[in-house]
Amino acid sequence: MNAVPALDIDGLFYDYPDGTAALYGISLVVQEGERVGLIGANGAGKSTFLLHLNGILRGKGAVRVFGETLGSGNLAALRCKVGMVFQNPDDQLFCPTICEDVAFGPRNMRLPEAEVRQRVDNAMETVGVDHLKHKSPFHLSIGQKKRAALATVLSMDARLLALDEPTSNLDPRGRRELIALLQAFARTQIIATHDLDLVRHLCTRVVLLDAGKVVADSVPESLLDDRALLEAHGL
Ligand SMILES: Nc1ncnc2c1ncn2[C@@H]1O[C@H](COP(=O)(O)OP(=O)(O)OP(=O)(O)O)[C@@H](O)[C@H]1O
Ligand SMILES: [Mg+2]
Repeated sequence: MNAVPALDIDGLFYDYPDGTAALYGISLVVQEGERVGLIGANGAGKSTFLLHLNGILRGKGAVRVFGETLGSGNLAALRCKVGMVFQNPDDQLFCPTICEDVAFGPRNMRLPEAEVRQRVDNAMETVGVDHLKHKSPFHLSIGQKKRAALATVLSMDARLLALDEPTSNLDPRGRRELIALLQAFARTQIIATHDLDLVRHLCTRVVLLDAGKVVADSVPESLLDDRALLEAHGL
């Protein structure tokens, strides 16, 4: 077993500025290579939790990524290791064209321009948006935006992917292709989703959140077949 986990979260609490208690003492260790499905009813805290993995939100408690405690001094370096795909693609795409959005991360990493282009082409081809590369994100369908948002993190070659609802708004073929892509991607993945079928087919582990707490943590086969447990927690 790898000595240094990909993620080691210890007693994480987070209250939004309006006083909403969104995370209530989450502790979770994820080893490198695991694919963890994060499930839970609307408002359970899935997105809030993911936003802590690269320091967009900072709660009370320790967040360690590949052995380093996340803090202001190493935020930029850790953000290169954690590729975050937001629930809403409009939060991810802000450049005049998709191509520039996908190049943004690698350029920020100061990679040589030839490598930036190579990474951009590969990432866009992988998610099937290469034909849209000169379009503005404002002129894409929601599913196309979701794909482009994923390309912006694939181009970073991150060691850990944090994906928030990656299959929402994808057409059936796009969804199948995304699952196959993630299956072939031998990196640690944390996937917040309501797509329990995706969890069953893709994830090696599933964590159930309710009201900002982990209420179950198991393999998909046993957890997803426990109807009483799922119903008790709003699924
Ligand atoms: N910006 C915010 N300000 C105040 N409260 C918020 C904010 N964002 C989320 N919340 C609250 O925090 C709690 C957790 O929300 P979160 O978005 O993490 O849930 P989720 O599990 O991702 O839900 P969904 O399945 O709908 O995406 C909810 O009670 C929500 O209302
Ligand atoms: Mg969410």
